[in-house]
Amino acid sequence: MSDHQATHEAFPTGAPAVVTCGLPYANGDLHIGHLRTYVGGDVYSRALESLGQQTAFVCGSDMHGTPIAVQAIEEGVDPEAFALEWHEQYAETFPKFGVEFDNYGHTHDDTNRELTYDIVERLEAEGYVYEKEIKVAWDPVDEQPLPDRYVEGTCPYCGEHARGDECDEGCGRHLEPGEIEDPVSTISGNPAEYRDRAHKFFEVSELSEYLDGFLDRLEGTSNARNQPRQWLEDGLQDWCITRDLDWGFDYPGEDDLVLYVWVDAPIEYIASTKQYTERVGADEYDWAEAWREDGEIVHVIGRDIIQHHTIFWPAMLEVADYVEPRAVLASGFMTLGGKGFSTSRNRAVWAREYLDEGFHPDLLRYYLATNGGFQQDVDFSWEKFRDRVNNELVGTVGNFIYRSLLFAHRNFEGTPEADVSEEVEARVREAIDDFEAGVNDYSVRAVGNATVELARFGNEYIQREEPWNLVGEDDEAAAQVIRDCVQIAKAVAVLFEPIAPDTSEELWDQLGEDGSVHDVTVDAALEAPPRDFGAPAELYEKIEAERVEELNEKLAARVAEATADDAGTETDESDADGEGDVSDIEPVADDRISFDEFQGLDLRVAEIVAAEPIEDSDNLVKLTVDIGLEERQIVAGIKQLHDVDDLPGTKVVVVANLEKAELFGHESNGMLLAAGEDADLLTTYGDSPVGTKIR
Ligand code: 2FM
Ligand code: ZN
Repeated sequence: MSDHQATHEAFPTGAPAVVTCGLPYANGDLHIGHLRTYVGGDVYSRALESLGQQTAFVCGSDMHGTPIAVQAIEEGVDPEAFALEWHEQYAETFPKFGVEFDNYGHTHDDTNRELTYDIVERLEAEGYVYEKEIKVAWDPVDEQPLPDRYVEGTCPYCGEHARGDECDEGCGRHLEPGEIEDPVSTISGNPAEYRDRAHKFFEVSELSEYLDGFLDRLEGTSNARNQPRQWLEDGLQDWCITRDLDWGFDYPGEDDLVLYVWVDAPIEYIASTKQYTERVGADEYDWAEAWREDGEIVHVIGRDIIQHHTIFWPAMLEVADYVEPRAVLASGFMTLGGKGFSTSRNRAVWAREYLDEGFHPDLLRYYLATNGGFQQDVDFSWEKFRDRVNNELVGTVGNFIYRSLLFAHRNFEGTPEADVSEEVEARVREAIDDFEAGVNDYSVRAVGNATVELARFGNEYIQREEPWNLVGEDDEAAAQVIRDCVQIAKAVAVLFEPIAPDTSEELWDQLGEDGSVHDVTVDAALEAPPRDFGAPAELYEKIEAERVEELNEKLAARVAEATADDAGTETDESDADGEGDVSDIEPVADDRISFDEFQGLDLRVAEIVAAEPIEDSDNLVKLTVDIGLEERQIVAGIKQLHDVDDLPGTKVVVVANLEKAELFGHESNGMLLAAGEDADLLTTYGDSPVGTKIR
C-alpha cells in the first residue's frame, strides 16, 4: 500500500503535474457539450504551464466496454475497427478547438494493456480481489449474457429508467451487475432473466478508511469533493471488475471474462503519460515520477463520472502503489432549451457544425470556459454566445487592443520609449495574481476573467487619459499612456493564452514579439514589448444578429424534432455520451393566485457577496447577500450543487419578505430562487442593479 500523494502546495510546485480529461467513448460525433470538459482541461493545463508548472496534458479514446460493443453491433461492424475510426476522428477534432494534448492515446494499445495487467496483478497480489457467484442479466432466447448497456430496466434506488451500469436518467448511481430491475435486452428487446455466473470483485469496501482520508485531501470543484462523502457514509460495496463480453482486455487467466471497461479506462491516464515520456524523454517529463512519486494529478471530468474518479480509481491507485489524484474538477452538463444534449436524437450543436459555420474556436473556448462556474449546468443558446462574444471579446478585449495598437503604430511606429507607469505595472501584477488565484481555486472562469477585467481597466485608462488630446500638446504624456497600453496589450496576450491560444498568438505576432506566446510564463506580462510593430488587425469579429437568427432557426427545428421524439419514445434512449437527459416536467398547479397575491411577494435582484459552507451540514451554505438596501444572511441548500467559492459575485433573485428561519443554528433572512434539482440559480438577463424590485 502506498502513501504517494501530491504536494498539496500552491501551484506552481516543484512536482510534475498531470492534467487529464475524461476519455471519450469512441462511438459517435463530438458535440459542444463534450467540448466543455476538454476545453476546461486544456485551459487548466495551459494555465498551469503559464505559471511555470511542469505539466503533461493527456487523454485518449475509451475503446472498450458495451458503449462500443452495442454500437458496433447496431452498425454490424467489428468493434475494434469501429472504435479506431472514431478515435482517429477525435484525435483530429480536438486540436481544431485548440485542445492540444501532449499525448492522445487509446485504451486498446499495448502500453495500456501492460499497465492494466500490472495493476490488476498488484490488486490480486495484495489480496484485494476475490471471486463470487452473482446473478447477471441473460437473454434466454438468444442465449447470451447481457452486461451493462446490453440491458436496460428500472433503477433499484430511485425507480427511474436506467441502463445496466448506470442510472443515467435518475439518481446517477453506478449500478452493479444484477442490480437493475425489470431487465430487458437492448439488442433483441427480449425480457432478460438472471443467471448465476462467477465474477471477480475488487474489495473497495476495505478501503473506506483510506478513501475517507483521501476525500479530506482532495481538491477541485465542490461537487467532486462532496458527493462521494454520501456514498462513503452509505457504505461501499465491492466492485465487480469483470464482464461476460468478448470485447475488451481478457481477465488474466480467465478465458471467458473481460475486464470491466472502467478498470482499464482510467489506467490510460497513466499509459498516455508514459507514451508522452517515451516521445520526449524522461529529462523533459518523467511519467514515473508523476505517477509513482509525487505528481500533481488533476482530473477534469463530467459530473456523471465523479464516483469512478473519487472512489474506484483512487482505491485502485492506492492498492497498486501509485500517486492518488490531487484534484477532480467535475463540470456541469450543457443543455439545449433546458434539455440534455442527445447524440442519438440529434439534439446537439455538433463540434464539426460549429467550425463549418466559420466561427473561430477561441470564441467557443471563451464562452465554454467562462460562462458560469465550471460545475454549473449551462443552457447553450446562440444569443448568449453572441452576447459574450460581442460584449466581452469584441467590445472589451478586442476593442482595447485594436485602438491601443493602432494609436501606437500611427503615432509611435510601435512601443513609445518610456518605462511603464507604476499604476499600470501594479494593475498588471494584480491580473497575474488573479490568474494565479484562479488556477489555485480550480476556476477556469476566474482565469479567463482576470484578462477580461484587465482589458476593461485598459479601456477605462485610455478613456481617462485621452492620449488623442495629448499628441502635439504633450507628446511625453501621450507616449507614457500608450507605452502603458502596449504593456497591457502584451499582458493580455500572455494571460489570455490558456483561454484563446490562437488569437493570443496572433496578438503576440502583432506586437512584434519573437517565438511563441505558448512558451512564455506569466512573468512575460511585465516584460517590455518590442520597440517596433506594424499596423494591427482586429482580433475578434462581431457576430451579427441576423446570423444568430439563422442559427436559431436551424437549432429550433432540430430541438423541436428531438422533443417530438421524446414524446413518442419514452425509453428508447441510452445516451452514449452520458449527458443527463430529460426528466418529466411537473404539471402547472391547478390553483390560480390573484395578481395581488403575487404582489405580496417582495422579489429583489441581489448579489451574493460572500459564501461559506456550513461545516456540519451536507448541503447548506451561509450566504451574505446584498439586496440593495442592506446585506442579509441567507442560508441555502446548494452546497453540493455549486462551487461555493464561485458564488460571490453571482447575481440572484431573492424573496426578501419571507419569514426568518433558523437552519442548523444559523438565521436565514430570505430565500434564493433556484430552478430544479440542480438548484440552477435565477439571475437577470440585463444589468438591473441590486435592490431592483421584480414585478
Ligand atoms: O463516461 C465516459 O464517457 C467514459 N468513457 C469516461 C472514462 S474516463 C476515464 F476514467 F477513463
Ligand atoms: Zn437511480
